[in-house]
Amino acid sequence: MKKVWIITAFVSFVLVSCFKGENTLNLLPKLPSTVYDYNNIERFGSKATIQGMIRDTTAQMYSNHSATLGRVLFYDVNLSINNKVSCGTCHIQSLAFADGIAKNKGFKGVEIERNSMGLINPILNNNMFWDSRTKSPLDLALQPVFNHQEMGMENQTMLVNKLEKISYYPELFKNAFGSEEITESKISIAMSHFINSVFSQNSKFDEGRKDEFKNFTGLELFGKTLFESERLMCSQCHSGENFSAPDFPGGPYGSGGGMGRGGMDFAMPPTNDLMIIPFDDPNSPRGTANIGLDLNYKDNGRQQGKFKIPSLRNIELTGPYMHDGRFKTLEEVVDHYSHGIKNHPHLDSKFKRQGKAIQLNISENEKQALIAFMKTLTDNNLIRNPKFSDPFKY
Ligand code: HEC
Ligand code: HEC
Repeated sequence: MKKVWIITAFVSFVLVSCFKGENTLNLLPKLPSTVYDYNNIERFGSKATIQGMIRDTTAQMYSNHSATLGRVLFYDVNLSINNKVSCGTCHIQSLAFADGIAKNKGFKGVEIERNSMGLINPILNNNMFWDSRTKSPLDLALQPVFNHQEMGMENQTMLVNKLEKISYYPELFKNAFGSEEITESKISIAMSHFINSVFSQNSKFDEGRKDEFKNFTGLELFGKTLFESERLMCSQCHSGENFSAPDFPGGPYGSGGGMGRGGMDFAMPPTNDLMIIPFDDPNSPRGTANIGLDLNYKDNGRQQGKFKIPSLRNIELTGPYMHDGRFKTLEEVVDHYSHGIKNHPHLDSKFKRQGKAIQLNISENEKQALIAFMKTLTDNNLIRNPKFSDPFKY
């Protein structure tokens, strides 16, 4: 009898070890039981739909089911070559989809080059990544999957073949696209539909807009005034509905902020040297600027040390800050603008007088006010909403 047990134990051990190898799949315990309403949102206090805001050709295919499939794909570690990394590894909901560290590690356990970005109303932006290299969530959806640092899948066939082996996908694809067939293009469409659904406009600031900011404290109001002031100029770059690059083809930052255009009463950039560069021109700034972080940039971003002017929504949650995560706190960020701006040859002209870098000389009290204002942009509903949560964690 004893022998039989030993043999059985050995055989089970061998079987288990085989299935633990590179090809093991990490499976969803059951399909997401709730299909949430992704489509209906509130924008500027009025009803709107995500479908109506999608500007690529896949808008017609958008549904709560395609976003649900996207949610599963987003959190599925099977999309990485060694089943260790999902999009959710570096984009964590409780941190507004950033990750809280300067540079995260990809599937090989090696640090990647840049700071993970929060997903802050991707649907409102037409410049994605720190260097604005991509236009929309649809164009970028699968880039991290095939990236040799991030998720490392070798090619599309490998990805499709792998997902075909997973029991919960046929039904999810059928619900989303009417057939069980899995294709690379359906994978990116669904993923982009989920990313586009991550919409955040439920902050103290948004509440305040409806009623002349009566809900703001004195410090927050002072911070808002400073943020919009000619002296500090924050709102000339972090502008519009999403507090991101102004979208103005003739302005210094070109088209960058997408639908942020004209949403808010924030200043537009000066228009005296009108120079229209098409968005696709390699010289188009695509909503980037050089803010004088260094005299020599190790990473040049879009070019010349210019990086995406990021949204400041949920900024309280998305530290560490800047493209390389160099600043741990918002205090350090404000200190940079106060007295750390370097005289880089391509430093933004807003920060130059007679060809030299200026410092904004922000006092301690002003610093606290600016930070208090930035914290009114936190949307607690976004970070708790189950529809954006990880379906693999029941
Ligand atoms: C290993 C960490 C890591 C993983 C895994 C990862 N990302 Fe990212 N993500 C980043 C970093 C870093 C950036 C900025 C990259 C750059 O600028 O080149 C970024 C940027 C983005 C952006 C641009 C946001 C903006 O506002 O411009 C989106 C969208 C995004 N990732 C989605 C995804 C999706 C979808 C997946 C899964 C397929 C994914 N990421 C997987 C680290 C990661
Ligand atoms: C000339 C345009 C410009 C102006 C003016 C400007 N910013 Fe920025 N801001 C940027 C750019 C570009 C970055 C990203 C730079 C990088 O990573 O290299 C940034 C980054 C930030 C970040 C970090 C964002 C993140 O996700 O890491 C904060 C916070 C911030 N700015 C706040 C402010 C405040 C407060 C002011 C006013 C005192 C201000 N900015 C003025 C362009 C600007």
